[in-house]
Amino acid sequence: MPEPIHRPPASAADDDALLDAQIAYYRARAPEYDAWWLRTGRFDRGEENNAAWRADVNAVERAAIATLASRRPTSVLELACGTGLFTRHLAPRVASVTAIDAAPEVIAINRARVAASNVDYVQADIFAWQPQTRYDCVFMSFWLSHVPHARFDALWAMVRRALAPNGFAYIIDSAHDQTSTAVDHPPPDRQAGVVTRKLDDGREYRIVKVFWTPEALTARLAASGFSADLQSTARYFVYGSATNAR
Ligand SMILES: C[S@@+](CC[C@H](N)C(=O)[O-])C[C@H]1O[C@@H](n2cnc3c(N)ncnc32)[C@H](O)[C@@H]1O
Repeated sequence: MPEPIHRPPASAADDDALLDAQIAYYRARAPEYDAWWLRTGRFDRGEENNAAWRADVNAVERAAIATLASRRPTSVLELACGTGLFTRHLAPRVASVTAIDAAPEVIAINRARVAASNVDYVQADIFAWQPQTRYDCVFMSFWLSHVPHARFDALWAMVRRALAPNGFAYIIDSAHDQTSTAVDHPPPDRQAGVVTRKLDDGREYRIVKVFWTPEALTARLAASGFSADLQSTARYFVYGSATNAR
């Protein structure tokens, strides 16, 4: 059994405050969000790091697209869709996407970027939202790391309710690497479960960030009744699928 890689939260009230701050952070960050993915501005780590990042970005994009091609989901529920960095890959490949996010600012950017009539946007707090139908795929990129330990089982119970009988969840998330974040962010602690983030204007936020390894996440998902097939890119990402094992 792999070792747990993070400590339990101090209290549910701490989690609530972090989750509120997390939404406020992503709302304020919306116009500058893509700099992280594109390695521009404060996320530019120099050519060598940027090339390694881009290679890993290509790897996770290719893997997600290959999974869509082989498993052929018709309907996708995208949790925490953000500015559409993955919605843009989902929408042209499936019949319908339901894309949820708490931040109206990122939904507006996503809608303009993806410009697809088969995407239904829902502004909602994922922790308070319940599916009204079932989906062939529940897709989450860089969302699971923002789910506190205490909410993990409830989140996956919701995913179970959202999945069609032969459906699958697909996860992409951050591996722990000191160079994945902005140059002016404190180096992320692998185990704290919390990180400090800054905006371009210097405002600071503390948000949830759980760095999963494929091994630890596979074991944790098994405890929640999901069978996972996860792997890592060379440095920056963890990705793969999970199916209901109950
Ligand atoms: C790291 S971003 C990931 C966005 C996108 N999936 C991507 O791959 O770029 C996390 C997203 O979670 C959203 N978010 C944070 N807390 C949320 C909550 N409680 N309910 C719904 N969305 C939330 C943020 O607004 C943000 O868009």
